Amino acid sequence: KFSITDFKDQMIEEIRREVADREVICGVSGGVDSTVLAVLLHKAGVKQRCLFVDNGLLRKNEREDVVAQFKEVGVPIEVVDARELFLNALSGVSDPEAKRKIIGNLFLDVFFGAADHIEVMAQGTLYPDVIESATSGSIASKIKTHHNRVDRAMELKKQGRVIEPLAELFKDEVRALGAELGIPHKALWRHPFPGPGLAVRVPGEVTEERLEICREADAIFIEELRRSGWYERTWQAYAAVLPVKTVGVKGDERSYEAAVSIRAVISEDAMTADWVELPHEVLRVISHRILNEVKGVNRVLYDISTKPPASIEWE
Ligand code: XMP
Repeated sequence: KFSITDFKDQMIEEIRREVADREVICGVSGGVDSTVLAVLLHKAGVKQRCLFVDNGLLRKNEREDVVAQFKEVGVPIEVVDARELFLNALSGVSDPEAKRKIIGNLFLDVFFGAADHIEVMAQGTLYPDVIESATSGSIASKIKTHHNRVDRAMELKKQGRVIEPLAELFKDEVRALGAELGIPHKALWRHPFPGPGLAVRVPGEVTEERLEICREADAIFIEELRRSGWYERTWQAYAAVLPVKTVGVKGDERSYEAAVSIRAVISEDAMTADWVELPHEVLRVISHRILNEVKGVNRVLYDISTKPPASIEWE
């Protein structure tokens, strides 16, 4: 009979055998897969370095939350602060594909720069990633746009220096394994978050000012979803800042400020998605709070687009 405990023990044994006394490097984002991977390596007791790249495109308090999350499970992580690098590189760029390319390439530069001598690299590739692309490997697949830096990962793979312990698992199995490893519920049920981060949620040019509006509005939205019990009933939810300003009234004067769009979707696998029929009273509280608490916003919109034809993210 299948038992998750036996399964976990087998995986740990396999990692010990495969890695032996070499050092394993893994990139962590705080997401479900990389967290389970990092804890699994830790329980296996192998030499381990976990790198977390702060690209300046994270959500409100995300860096602190991720650090706290890893502290809670007892796995040391190194934070690589690359905020300036990313924001400078994105300055003046508004084409979605160009933004993605810049972010993907910089991530690889920063990651491989911080991990210059790699004995073994661990990736949190899941089974669906394996079948989705022959060039699997979560770094390559996360970026979506091809680049020759991906060759570095491919080369390591050819040399047998990449391990993908989760490659036979589906998401629900990763969560079960994570629970067995003692990872807190909240960490295992985080919404997906795209690799390019908030850059795809501020369509148009990425500026610190627009990121700040996005962060504040998003934090309020998510807080209210949690409070009303809707967070875990949605696949993903976020705020985006539109690349237009809108006219409004403030006291006796006209205002000319940002419009924020909020989106909550349900989905099985992110290939298709439907918008969530959030109760009007929940939407009312969210809109009221964003309009009153976030500086520079005078309009809030609820996104009622299915995927297809829309995508889940704005870019
Ligand atoms: P779209 O917007 O294409 O998104 O409907 C589908 C799912 O994928 C996530 N997403 C990404 N995840 N790297 C990732 O790791 C990316 O570059 C990326 N782009 C989109 C998105 O948040 C949604 O869950």
